[in-house]
Amino acid sequence: MSLKKLLLGLGFATTTGFLSYVYFKENNRETKRKEEEEKENENENENENEKEKEKKRERIRERIREKKKKKKKNRQKKRQKTKKKAKKEKKRKTITFSKTTEMYESPNRLPKSHSTGILSQGEIPFDKKVYIIYTGGTIGMIKKKGKPLTPDPDFFKTLQSLPFLKSRYVPSLNYDNTIEPVDSTNIGLKEWLIIANSIKEVYNEYDGFVILHGTDTLAFTASALSFLLENLSKPVVVTGSQIPLGGCRSDGLNNLISSVLVATYSKIPEVVVVFNNKILRGNRTTKRSSEDIDAFVSFQYPQIGTCGIKVAVNKSLVLDDNKKPLVVHQEMEKEVIVIKLFPSIENVIERIYSHPNLCGVIIECYGAGNAPTSEKFLSTIKKASKRGIITVIVSQCVTGNVDLSTYKTGNDLVKAGCVGVFDMTTETAFTKLMFLLAKYDDIDFIKKLMPISLRGECSDNLETSSEVFVVYN
Ligand SMILES: *[C@@H]1O[C@H](CO)[C@@H](O)[C@H](O)[C@H]1NC(C)=O
Ligand SMILES: *[C@@H]1O[C@H](CO)[C@@H](O)[C@H](O)[C@H]1NC(C)=O
Ligand SMILES: *[C@@H]1O[C@H](CO)[C@@H](O)[C@H](O)[C@H]1NC(C)=O
Repeated sequence: MSLKKLLLGLGFATTTGFLSYVYFKENNRETKRKEEEEKENENENENENEKEKEKKRERIRERIREKKKKKKKNRQKKRQKTKKKAKKEKKRKTITFSKTTEMYESPNRLPKSHSTGILSQGEIPFDKKVYIIYTGGTIGMIKKKGKPLTPDPDFFKTLQSLPFLKSRYVPSLNYDNTIEPVDSTNIGLKEWLIIANSIKEVYNEYDGFVILHGTDTLAFTASALSFLLENLSKPVVVTGSQIPLGGCRSDGLNNLISSVLVATYSKIPEVVVVFNNKILRGNRTTKRSSEDIDAFVSFQYPQIGTCGIKVAVNKSLVLDDNKKPLVVHQEMEKEVIVIKLFPSIENVIERIYSHPNLCGVIIECYGAGNAPTSEKFLSTIKKASKRGIITVIVSQCVTGNVDLSTYKTGNDLVKAGCVGVFDMTTETAFTKLMFLLAKYDDIDFIKKLMPISLRGECSDNLETSSEVFVVYN
């Protein structure tokens, strides 16, 4: 055997060995790949299964979610139902409440008379008759969009629609609209006479009278009526409100109802102001605030009654019963003016007193009735006094007395012919002078009557008034 053959053989053997090795290796890979492919296939199948399972699970979850949603909805519905029920029950409660109120006011519970001096809530005197006169003013005003407050032409309809006034357990009411409703700034002598005569016409048919009035001149009207209506034996109540009756938070309804109740009480034979639960003597009242609900005060005379839980009147503070028939006076003097003292008034005082038909002047002096002592001032008043013009001195202070005897300045005023009226309000001094000037011609007699209480308008100062008291008979 040659080396060549050996080499060839060897080469052949290695090649075949190599080739077979390669073959095997290749074969092995092939099977592995196949196996892997199979595995992959299997995996894919498994994945698909997994996906389907996931889908199923998802569907189940979806169903659960839907069920939850439904339950939530049901719960919400239930809640809404219970809310509605509660609302209905609330409504029912309100109705019951008003029923109990009615029961409280039912006639069975009413005592036969209320002569105790106290009107309690349970004693609403439904058998009484009250006459209501509406003159205008805030209480009956309405506000239209973008416009200021104006009197409501249908105010009586509004009044009659109020639940309280519709109740049959309320005094029977009658409404009077003889006066064209106006802002109370436009009320004066003419209107006072119309009101007084309206009362006169129906005086015997009613137990009491309520005058609905604007607050600005309410105190003047109350004073004027107290003079025009002599020997009253029934209450005349003047009231109003700071907020219109239809307004949110209105004080009108309370003032109106309180006034109606006070007007049924026969033991108040005088003109009173009922406002913010206070009962005040009409000719002692002054408006003290344009903003507060508590707008009126009686600085110099105690409050004669209170509308609290009970409507109570202090008997010792109201006039005694009057058996004389009512006399309605028909005249008041127009030419009376009110001026307020101010520094250096001397410069214009002559011009003020030169007004041709002037009959009376009310001067609001400083403190206890003090005024300038200048010759110009005093001589003007003196000259006017000689011409028959009466000058009455009131104080700018809301409490305290005008006492012209204390200071020299006051004495000078007396010498010049002035008359001081103690604690009388400006409103009352003004209306009283108008009243007396129309009633009497004797200037000296009027001067003597001015400081004396005709109808409780001033506290009799015995020291000073005793000497003039004799004159009045
Ligand atoms: C009013 O009554 C008083 C006292 O009772 C009486 O003196 C007076 O004359 C009466 N007034 C009128 C105008 O009748
Ligand atoms: C009634 O008025 C008098 C006199 O002002 C007073 O002394 C008394 O305390 C008042 N009574 C009541 C209950 O207010
Ligand atoms: C003030 O009012 C009261 C009650 O009406 C009355 O008695 C008194 O006389 C009045 N004053 C005048 C001057 O009218």
